[in-house]
Amino acid sequence: MTPSSHDQPPIGRKTHRTVSVADRKVATMNDSSPALEAIDLVKNFGEQTAVDGVSFSVPAGSVLGLLGPNGAGKTTTVRMMTTLSLPTSGTARVAGHDVVSHPELVRRNMGLTGQAATVDELLTGRENIRLIGGLYGVGKRDLKKLGDQLLEQFSLTDAADRPVKSYSGGMRRRIDLAVSLLTAPPVLFLDEPTTGLDPRSRNELWDVLRNLVKQGTTLLLTTQYLEEADQLADNIVVIDKGRTIAEGTPHQLKEQAGKASLVITVSHPDDLRAAEGLLRKTGAEVHVDADARRLSAPADGLRDMTRVAGWFTDSGIEVDDIGLSRPSLDDVFLSLTGHTAEDGPGDDRSDDDTDSDITAREASA
Ligand SMILES: Nc1ncnc2c1ncn2[C@@H]1O[C@H](COP(=O)(O)OP(=O)(O)OP(=O)(O)O)[C@@H](O)[C@H]1O
Ligand SMILES: [Mg+2]
Repeated sequence: MTPSSHDQPPIGRKTHRTVSVADRKVATMNDSSPALEAIDLVKNFGEQTAVDGVSFSVPAGSVLGLLGPNGAGKTTTVRMMTTLSLPTSGTARVAGHDVVSHPELVRRNMGLTGQAATVDELLTGRENIRLIGGLYGVGKRDLKKLGDQLLEQFSLTDAADRPVKSYSGGMRRRIDLAVSLLTAPPVLFLDEPTTGLDPRSRNELWDVLRNLVKQGTTLLLTTQYLEEADQLADNIVVIDKGRTIAEGTPHQLKEQAGKASLVITVSHPDDLRAAEGLLRKTGAEVHVDADARRLSAPADGLRDMTRVAGWFTDSGIEVDDIGLSRPSLDDVFLSLTGHTAEDGPGDDRSDDDTDSDITAREASA
């Protein structure tokens, strides 16, 4: 679907000098002011409400994970925050600038990696950097140095002179991210940065993102992967059908999903009954999986675990393993929505619609 006439004009061509000035302004901005703010953001598409009153505040240098299943409203939120789409109502600010009244200032302070790659497939990695850096007004000499640095940082030096169409999915995501960092934006939006990547490439990208945050970048990343939000985000906003259904630190959200459980695997099946008796002393209900020689019971954390470990040592019952299993964010999602993130509501619109729209706008930057 194409954006309506409400939508903002494409990102304007700006000189590098202006970018730097804006950056400096942010750097000297009151540290306590949030780098990103959304207040009651709403987006309607005709009758349909894609985003229904989402609010959050992201302190500078931290990571917000916007977590939700297909069609939750993640991309729509990112598009409003990045001036690609006007909110129906509500307010959003990036680096202190209002997305509606000062879109130019917002754009100068942000980078965006959309849901699909935005780089030119026919050009090499290095040529893409040259092209897009040039469009952003980065001087030739700076661009060469910065480009080499970014290619190195993203382990793309060897592939730099190959056309992007020969890159693997992981390499494409990395060149895309490298390109969005050409202006060293203080705020970076990443829409599902690791979707489609294998576990190794995903881990590599996570490392890159952690490094960026260490250097002071503020990140908003959307994800369907609960583990990803857990790994990277300081705070998580869970959205479903356009609404915030939970928010907090990964730890807080996991606490919401209930208690941890103590899981003990005994070495000999004959000890199961005695082990069950011992575990009952905690006062909790004990679950026994005889085939796996495993017992589990809700527990209050490490204190319970050490106490029970002591009882087992004293009793002489041999154990293979004793550990604490905390509820995953998947459990959180399930307890909040009654469905898992995977079987969330379907999306009748092809992903290409919004992505090609973002691409077109970014390409005209
Ligand atoms: N341009 C548009 N016109 C009409 N409806 C739209 C448009 N863009 C998004 N929507 C609808 O808004 C809802 C939220 O879509 P959005 O793309 O924000 O979800 P998402 O959380 O990013 O999902 P995904 O994980 O699949 O990328 C969906 O129901 C979608 O069909
Ligand atoms: Mg999306």
